[in-house]
Amino acid sequence: MIPVWDDAVREWNTAGQVVLFDAASVVLTRGVCRWAGVPLDEGAGETEHLARDLVAMVDGFATAGPRHWRARRARGRQEERFTRLVEDVRSGRVAAPEGSVLAAVCRHREATGDLLHPHTAAVELLNVIRPTVAVCWFVAYTAHALHLQPNQRERLRGGDTAYTAAFVHEVRRFYPFAPFLGGLAVRDLSWRGVPVPAGAMVLLDVFGQNHDEELWGDPYVFRPERFLEHAVERDELIPQGGGEPRTGHRCPGEGLTIGLLEALALRLAGLDYTVPDQDLRISLRRIPARVRSGFAVRDVRVASKRTLTAV
Ligand code: HEM
Repeated sequence: MIPVWDDAVREWNTAGQVVLFDAASVVLTRGVCRWAGVPLDEGAGETEHLARDLVAMVDGFATAGPRHWRARRARGRQEERFTRLVEDVRSGRVAAPEGSVLAAVCRHREATGDLLHPHTAAVELLNVIRPTVAVCWFVAYTAHALHLQPNQRERLRGGDTAYTAAFVHEVRRFYPFAPFLGGLAVRDLSWRGVPVPAGAMVLLDVFGQNHDEELWGDPYVFRPERFLEHAVERDELIPQGGGEPRTGHRCPGEGLTIGLLEALALRLAGLDYTVPDQDLRISLRRIPARVRSGFAVRDVRVASKRTLTAV
C-alpha cells in the first residue's frame, strides 16, 4: 500500500487540487487489488471506476433514497464484473498469482467438494476489497484532525510508534463513522436485568460509548495521549463493534484497519499542503458521517523524508 501511496503523492504534487477522500479511495483500491491479485486495467480507468463503486456501496449501507439505490447499482455492477473474473481465472483466461486472495477464492471448495458458485466467490472477494477501501473515511478524518490541531502533525513526524498508535485510536474514537449498530435478538434473553424478547431489535450505541464521559473524561476533546495513559480494554473502544470477532460480529478487519491507518497517518503527516476554503463540517445526521468537502488540499509536497522511511 505504501509504494502505491508514495506514487500517488508524486501525482498530487503536480495535480493542483486533490480531494483527499477520493484520492485515498483510489490509492486503497489500487493497493488492495494489487495485494489480492485482482487485475485492473489502469489505462481504461478501471481503478477509479472500481473505487467510486466501492465507496458508493459503503456510503449507502444505512440509508434510504438515492444513496441506497446508487449503492445497489454499484454492487450489482461489481458483483457481475468479479463473477466474470472468477470464471476467467477458472477457465485459464486470466492468471491468478500463486498465493493470492484471488487464487484462494477461485479454488475454494464447499464442504460438498464443489467449487464456490462464481457469484459467491465474487461476493467473498468484494468482502475483502470493499471494507479495506472504506479506510478512506478515516484518512479524511485524519486530515481533519491534523488541520484542526497542527501540533499533532509535529508529534507524528517525531516517529514515536506508540504515539502513532494512540493517534489512530483517537481518530477512530473521536470521529463518527457508524454511530450505532443494530441486531435482532435470536432468543429471549436478559441484559443486566433488562428483558430482551426474541426478535427485538437491539442497538449498540457506538458513538455514545466512544463519547461516554465516565469512560473518557473529556470525550469531545481530540487527545491521543489518553491512549498512552492507559491500555484500551476490549469493549471500551468500539468503532468497529464490541465483543470478540471469533465468537461474535466484531469487525475481523480491525487490526488491518489500525495497521493501514498507522502507516497512512504517518504518510499524511509527512506531507505539507495548503488547505483552501471549504466546508469541513461533519454532520452527525449522515451515516456514514463524512467530511463534507472530502478535504481538498493544494500544493502537496513531501516535507519530512524521515517520516517516509519510518514505516
Ligand atoms: C473503515 C474501516 C472499517 C470499519 C469502520 C469497519 C466497521 C465494521 C463494523 C461496525 C462491523 C460490524 C460489527 C458488529 O456488528 O458488531 C464490521 C464487520 C465486518 N468487517 Fe469491518 N470495518 C472496517 C474495515 C474492515 C476491513 C479492512 C475488513 C477486512 C478486510 C473488514 C471486514 C469485516 C467483516 C468480514 C465483517 C463482518 C463480521 C461478522 O458479521 O461476523 N472490515 N466492520
